[in-house]
Amino acid sequence: MEKVKMILDCDTGHDDAIALMVAARHPQIELLGVTVVAGNQVLEKTLPNTLNVCQHLNINVPVYGGMDRPMVRDQVTAGDVHGKSGLDGPVFDALTRKAEKKHAVNFIIDTLMESDGDITLVPVGPLTNIAMAMRLQPAIVRKIKRIVLMGGAVGLGNTTPAAEFNIYVDPEAAHVVLTSGVPIVMMPLDLTNTALADMKIIERMEAIGNKAGKLFGDIMRFTFKSQAVNGLTAGPVHDVTAVTYLVIPEIYHTQDMYVEVELNRGPSYGRTVCDMNDRFHKTPNVTVGLSLDLDKFWDLVEETLRRHE
Ligand code: RIB
Ligand code: CA
Repeated sequence: MEKVKMILDCDTGHDDAIALMVAARHPQIELLGVTVVAGNQVLEKTLPNTLNVCQHLNINVPVYGGMDRPMVRDQVTAGDVHGKSGLDGPVFDALTRKAEKKHAVNFIIDTLMESDGDITLVPVGPLTNIAMAMRLQPAIVRKIKRIVLMGGAVGLGNTTPAAEFNIYVDPEAAHVVLTSGVPIVMMPLDLTNTALADMKIIERMEAIGNKAGKLFGDIMRFTFKSQAVNGLTAGPVHDVTAVTYLVIPEIYHTQDMYVEVELNRGPSYGRTVCDMNDRFHKTPNVTVGLSLDLDKFWDLVEETLRRHE
C-alpha cells in the first residue's frame, strides 16, 4: 500500500503530542513536516512543546512555527486543560532542537505547490495556518488531496455549550477551510470524546516499556486529572483519531453532510452546524466521523508506539 503523504498541523497540547508520535512512526504514513499554531497555549509554548516531543523521541521531521493568533477574533487558550506550559506532565531534557526558519504558512504553500496533489493536511488545532495559506495562495486548494481534521461537534461543544475548542479559537479560519471546496473529513467531539485514555489504556501503553510508552503515560496521566473540566472520566486523545483515519478508515462510521460554522458573535459563535438530516438541502461538504471501533483504534496506537525507541 502506497504511503499516505501528510502534513500535521498542531497546537501541542497533550493529544497533539500523541498524534505526532503516531504520525511519525506508522509504516503507512510519510510525515513531510509539522506546522505549529497557537491554540492550547500561545505559539511561544506550542512550538517548543512540539520540538520537545520530536527531540525526546528522535522524530527527525522539520517543524515550522506558524500563526500566533486567530485571523479575526481575540485569542483564546486552554490552560485549564493543558496547563501553564500547554504540555504539563512530562519533563524533557534541555531543548536543543530548532524550528525551521521558514514560516509554517509558506511551508504549506511551497510543499503543496511543488507536489503532485497527493498530500493530505491533518490539522488538529485551530485552522489559522491552513486558512491563511488558502488566502495567501488560493492555487493550493486544488493541490490539497484531502483535509482530515479534528474539530467541531455535531452535538455539544466543549469550550462553550455550542462550540468545540479548535473551531471556537478561530471560527473565521474554519469557515475559510470548510467553504474551500477541498474534500474534508472531520473528527468531532461526538467521536473523539469516546477515545478516552483511562488508567487501563495508560498502563497498557506504559507496559510497552520504551520511551514512547513512558511519554504516553506522563502526558495522559496529566489530562486524566484535568479532563473533569469537560465532565469526562479521563483524557480523550482527540487528535489521534484524525491521524489513524488515514490508515484504518474502515474502523470509522461516517456520514457526508453539509456543515457550516456559525460566525455571528452570539452564544453559538464557532458552532459547527452539522446538517445530519439534510434540512438545508445543501450539498454535503464534509465527511463527519460519528463513531469508531475503539479496540482496533487502541491496537493501532499501541502497535505504532512500539515502533518508537
Ligand atoms: O477540542 C479538542 C481539541 O482542542 C484538541 O485538538 C485539543 O488538542 C485542543 O486543541
Ligand atoms: Ca490540538
